[in-house]
Amino acid sequence: MKSKRLLVGNWKMYLGSSEATALASQLATFSKDLKHSAAWIAPSFPHLASCAQAAKGSPIQVGAQNVCWEANGAFTGEVSLASLKECGCNFAIVGHSERRLLCGETPELVARRMNFALQSNLQVILCVGETFEQHQDGETHAALAEQLAPVVDGLAAEHADHLCVAYEPVWAIGTGRYPTNQEIRGAHEFIAQQFARKMKDPPCILYGGSVTPENFEHILGVPLVHGALVGRASLKFEQFRALIEISERCGPIL
Ligand code: PGA
Repeated sequence: MKSKRLLVGNWKMYLGSSEATALASQLATFSKDLKHSAAWIAPSFPHLASCAQAAKGSPIQVGAQNVCWEANGAFTGEVSLASLKECGCNFAIVGHSERRLLCGETPELVARRMNFALQSNLQVILCVGETFEQHQDGETHAALAEQLAPVVDGLAAEHADHLCVAYEPVWAIGTGRYPTNQEIRGAHEFIAQQFARKMKDPPCILYGGSVTPENFEHILGVPLVHGALVGRASLKFEQFRALIEISERCGPIL
């Protein structure tokens, strides 16, 4: 996962079926010859199969915005990993702050989702991040530690290569505000340290929260930033393409 810079478009609950599929095809055509970057997309559940079809034969990978922690059963409203694979998914996002804060997902539940997906060979993007109050009170590391504890405890070393962490300060998501490079560096280093007892090398760590073509090059200059999880700027082809072009211009990942 770490050989190329990773740009993941989190399309959240935006884009209808035809818009999502058209954007997936544009990205598929554009992404054919990327050298230093990989572009992944996470459309909403009903559009996964059509987007995977549109991206077929291209390097674009399609993934889900969540995945159930059990194989099947009475879990109304959840989507099974087997169904996701049937739709052509290669990865899933888990623990996005909108799931944690709006739907009450706990660090333990997020870790169960992650472990189930990793054991079934799905790549996982695990999101962590502090709220504005925690940021103000200097509790960023404590918040990250709390979200990561069950994840690191349960992580099997043999699956660690399929895990990518996204550091997403809640106060930066969709707000136009974002941390200083020093703050991003501090958080990424702290995240890497949490995994040190399970992994020889730190996991792939993305930054997420108000990434735009204006600030991306600056953010990519931070050590331990392996790419970005992008919401709003991934919904328009021109903006997503601009982000990918910036990553390409930055050359090989160090
Ligand atoms: P944003 O969203 O880029 O619109 O801030 C990021 C995310 O929620 O993953």
